[in-house]
Amino acid sequence: MKKVITYGTYDLFHNGHYNLLKRAKELGDYLIVGVTTEHYDEARGKVNVVDSLMTRIENVRSTGFADEIIVEDHVGQKIEDIQKYDVDIFTLGSDWVGTFDYLKQFCEVVYLDRTPDVSSTQIRNNSFKIINLGIVGTGRIVPRFLSEVKYVSGVNVICTFNPEVREDKFLKKRYVLDNYYESYDEFLDKVDAIYIASPNETHYEYAKKALHASKHVLCEKPLCFKRDEAEELYDYAKENDLVLMEAIKTAYCPGFQQLMNVASSGVIGDIRDVEATYTRLADPNSRERTSSMYEGSFLEFGSYTLLPAIKLLGKEYSDIRFKTLYDDKGVDIYTKIDLDYDNGMATSKVRR
Ligand code: CTP
Repeated sequence: MKKVITYGTYDLFHNGHYNLLKRAKELGDYLIVGVTTEHYDEARGKVNVVDSLMTRIENVRSTGFADEIIVEDHVGQKIEDIQKYDVDIFTLGSDWVGTFDYLKQFCEVVYLDRTPDVSSTQIRNNSFKIINLGIVGTGRIVPRFLSEVKYVSGVNVICTFNPEVREDKFLKKRYVLDNYYESYDEFLDKVDAIYIASPNETHYEYAKKALHASKHVLCEKPLCFKRDEAEELYDYAKENDLVLMEAIKTAYCPGFQQLMNVASSGVIGDIRDVEATYTRLADPNSRERTSSMYEGSFLEFGSYTLLPAIKLLGKEYSDIRFKTLYDDKGVDIYTKIDLDYDNGMATSKVRR
């Protein structure tokens, strides 16, 4: 019996998937189809998969071509599966030509012609509105943001706003972005959502104006300096059905989420004490170390280290104490925060 194996995400099941499975089945007598898990897709940078794993499996099953369906959840699994199931032929569509030639030492590798003019990405882009995103501020984090955002389908960065830079040649040339520098309103008119990566003291005003212009906002931390400002913005966003998020990416990292879930499951007992530290030593001549007002360790990193404490012990602390060491320019170079809870405690330390 000739065994064939193929893999895919099979999101928003389409004709190309059907044809591929049909031809894969015709290559042998027994077809095994590996369907990727959400986690595996996210880890590969495929972050916008619409259908659940169960739906995608069901769609593959309903073609009638698969004799067996398995789940693919980690790098290197293909080799394990080929050996485990004693596979004769590994096949994928021609968009993968060459990528899996390393499997030739285990079985035959066949690339089947891809069905033209259809893909899950295309269907996702047609069915879901593309969000035009503008970036406020053009500092060091922006090239990093731009190099990552290309993996997120449904988002298109179109322009930047920076009142201090007339034309950012690097961004314009490399990423073909329009730069606005005179009118924030004109910039807001062009976009559906903004990412604020400007100096800390400007966040609140930029965010507020954008929300009042009905734009969604992703804002670098700290969103604001004062609790009532933050509450005002979150309340406004909620009332007006707008997304407002502080860009604490750690909260969304699968590794961090899993760590929190494992800790919360009770497997290591009740959580009584949480200690989190974030250290990144800034260049003594950089903005972070020369402007004492709005920079410094706590404002830059406090949200990261408070995150696990709040996630694991909650918001209802009974006391909070700050201790800060300042350098000769008055910049916060080290802050330690102690939180007391009725039944626990937390320490958060940040150093820059
Ligand atoms: N496939 C195909 N023809 C298409 C689209 C996909 O033959 N028009 C094949 C792929 O080569 C792969 C299998 O279908 O062997 C599953 O592909 P998958 O990545 O799930 O589908 P895509 O539509 O390519 O998804 P995406 O756009 O998200 O990359």
